[in-house]
Amino acid sequence: MLTIAMAKGRILKEALELFSRAGIPVSDSLNEDSRKLVITMPEAGFSLFLAKPMDVPTYVEYGVADLGIVGKDVLLEQERDVYELLDLRISPCRMAVAGKPDWRPGLYPRVATKYPRIAEKYFKEKGQQVEVILLNGSVELAPIIGLADRIVDIVSTGQTLRENGLVELEPICTVTSRMIANRASYRLKSEPISALMNALSKVIGECVRR
Ligand code: PRP
Repeated sequence: MLTIAMAKGRILKEALELFSRAGIPVSDSLNEDSRKLVITMPEAGFSLFLAKPMDVPTYVEYGVADLGIVGKDVLLEQERDVYELLDLRISPCRMAVAGKPDWRPGLYPRVATKYPRIAEKYFKEKGQQVEVILLNGSVELAPIIGLADRIVDIVSTGQTLRENGLVELEPICTVTSRMIANRASYRLKSEPISALMNALSKVIGECVRR
């Protein structure tokens, strides 16, 4: 049996739909109110560990999960020692700089974000000095209440920005969910991993990277 660390929330729902489309018999008994964290799917040949997105690469790097499904945003932020096997093309969104529409660049702006490395790299490459402030969620609050001048965050539908009177100022990159693998598992369990990747890549129309 393979073990897959799966990001909870929107990615989980779309990943299960993708598995179904690929003919993988995933249980449809996963109800949204459930607090269960390990879901065994014997017919599909794997168990799912439902984790916070930021923790998925940790489970995979340490080898307690053979595979992981997580957004490219988290992979870019963490640069973990894992293989990135496949772009699943689910949960598309973008990483962007956002803020109030009337914002004007100051001398040493403060940028609030869940992604300090991505933010620092982005502004460094632009040659702009900023102070990056780490937050763990609801980042859109920061410019509204005056903690920061701008935010770096993911934008999906744009609803959170709109409802909080913020606008996208600069795009950084596009983000989709990826399948990642532990390096040892990739060698030791190559057969079931390849079978799963092939089934998924057929419905996605994307090539397996390794
Ligand atoms: C993410 C992101 C934005 C929002 C964007 O937050 O950080 O806040 O979704 O989505 P939208 O463009 O469709 O509104 P998430 O829901 O993961 O919660 P968080 O703020 O607690 O991190």
